[in-house]
Order: sequence, then C-alpha cells, then structure tokens
Amino acid sequence: MAKISSELQTAIDYLKRGDVIGIPTETVYGLAGNAFSEDAVLKIFTTKNRPSFDPLIVHVADVESINKIATYVSPAMEKLMQAFSPGPLTYLLPKKANISDLITSGLPNVAIRIPNHPLTLELLQQIDFPLAAPSANPFGYVSPTSPQHVEHQLGTKIPYILDGGTCQIGLESTIIGEQDGQLTVYRLGGLSIEQLEEVAGKVIVNDFSSSNPKAPGMLKSHYAPSKKIRLLDSQNLQDRNVGFIGFQQFHPDIPPENQLLLSENGSVEEAAKNLFATLREVENLNGDEVFVRLLPETGLGRAINDRLRRAAAH
Ligand code: TXA
Ligand code: MG
Repeated sequence: MAKISSELQTAIDYLKRGDVIGIPTETVYGLAGNAFSEDAVLKIFTTKNRPSFDPLIVHVADVESINKIATYVSPAMEKLMQAFSPGPLTYLLPKKANISDLITSGLPNVAIRIPNHPLTLELLQQIDFPLAAPSANPFGYVSPTSPQHVEHQLGTKIPYILDGGTCQIGLESTIIGEQDGQLTVYRLGGLSIEQLEEVAGKVIVNDFSSSNPKAPGMLKSHYAPSKKIRLLDSQNLQDRNVGFIGFQQFHPDIPPENQLLLSENGSVEEAAKNLFATLREVENLNGDEVFVRLLPETGLGRAINDRLRRAAAH
C-alpha cells in the first residue's frame, strides 16, 4: 500500500533517495523519479512494466530549466512556451548530454514539459533535478486521474503518492516537435489544435494510428479497459446486453442504468476530465461489450476520440 498524502516534504525525501512516487499534474498522474539518476529512471520502467523503446517525458519548473537540458529552442517553440507554459503541452527538443539515452530511448530529442499543478510546481522548485515521469499506470492501461487510480494499479510497487486531487484536464499532454522546420503534433492531448494554431499558425498533425518512431509510445492498441470497447456506427443495439458510454445523452435502446455519460451538460472539457475514470467504470456494467459514441471532432473532442479509438483497438 502506498501512502497517499499532500505532504510535500515526504515527496522530496523519497525523490532525493532515488525512489519513484506518484505525482499530480493537471493532465494525469505521473510516476516520477530523478531524471539525473539512472537507477531511478530504471525503476520507472520496471514499475510500469514499460518497454525500453518507449521514452519518458521530463518535467521541469520553468522555461529557464528547459535550457539546462535542451541544446536549442527555436523561435517557434519559444513562442509556444511563452503562451502555454505551465500547461498541457510537451516540447520535443534536442537533448543535452545530461539527459541519458535511457530517458529518450536513444532518440536525439527529449520530451519536456512544465506541468500546471501548484503542488507539483512547488515540488519541482524545491528540488535541484528534473523529474522523469510517464503516466502512472501499468504499460498499455488507462491513465490515472486520481491518487486512488494510482494506488489501485501501482500501490504495491511504490511507497508514496502525492495527493493533488482529481486532475483538472484529464487527458495526457499534447506533444509537439518540429519536422523540416514545421511544427508537428505527435500526440493529440490536453491542449487542442485550435488553441495551438491560434498562437502558432497552421501545425501538422501526425497522430499516427500505429507504432511510429517519433512517438514510440503511441501504439494503436492502448488504454485497454477491462471490457471490450466498440465504436458505435450503425449497429442495432436493441435487445442486446451491452453497456454504453455516451457524451451527453443516453442511447435509447439500452437501459440507462447500464450506461455512463461523459458530460451531462455537454461540455467537452468535462468529458475530457471524466474520460479515464469512465473507462475504468465499464467493469461495473452488464454484458461483455461496451459501445461508445465518438464526440464531434473539434477542440478536445479530437483527443478524446483518439483515446476512444485506441481503447477500441484490439
Ligand atoms: O500529460 C502527460 O504528458 C503525462 C504527465 C504525467 O506529464 N505524461 C505522459 O507520459 O503521458 P507517457 O510516458 O505516458 O507518454 C509520453 C509519450 C511517450 O509514450 C512517447 O510517445 C512520447 O511521449 N515521447 C517521450 N519522449 C519522447 C521523445 N524523446 N521523442 C518522441 N516521443 C517521445
Ligand atoms: Mg502513458
């Protein structure tokens, strides 16, 4: 059993000792360790059961700290940092030698972000090393958006979870890099394409549907919940013992008690915040299959649909 507490000093003590712990961010909970300690980084991989080809995101307190681990920040990336840090945006930047190949899986770039959570920002300010932190779930499973989710899946493997409440955004960060001088999104996430383009102009979206070398972790089948998730198109659900996840409205052919809604008042932001907790709840529904209706492909709807498609890929 991991201890769940909002005591900052305990978190600092564990991290300084080279332990890995759960930390809150505005997107999802992270499994954090000292990015400058090979032992701590190895511990992250083994705790998550994560393959070594899937690189880690490094978390820092401020833009100044980014320059200590990246060799170059282009004017376009600089502009994004000014607009969106701290926030749910991760930058792919050429790494300095102080970032090990273990963290980047041998890639020349390191993924860096400044999380927008008061407790974790305070934590990052009080330590003199960055935190490597993937989402705090076993590899291939749904990301955690509460300390209880972390406890449920990794509680026997880690000593401590820093309690920062429920994650405000609920989707992992958007990942952005540059390819041939063009801003390119490698993972849809908590910062929408519309928000990005308002500041940066047109960006390329490279949200691969299968394994790809630039964002090796974006495997097609991911976020696997305990039941078979199926996307709703024209199937007839009448008289079928299946569950349903709706955005705002129940499906007319299924008993409401066997359904879950992402946002009763139709807010995409609320749907994002509820998504992963809802995917965990499908085990309480009757039937072996759960159908889900995709959201409109705008704003965070696009990232939500990306996660739903991965959850439905078998
Ligand atoms: O919101 C988030 O980003 C959360 C919180 C904890 O910060 N973290 C997170 O980490 O989602 P993780 O490890 O579950 O997903 C990070 C993904 C990797 O799977 C990989 O696709 C990509 O980021 N990534 C990391 N380092 C990279 C690199 N050097 N080059 C390309 N892609 C990289
Ligand atoms: Mg993850």
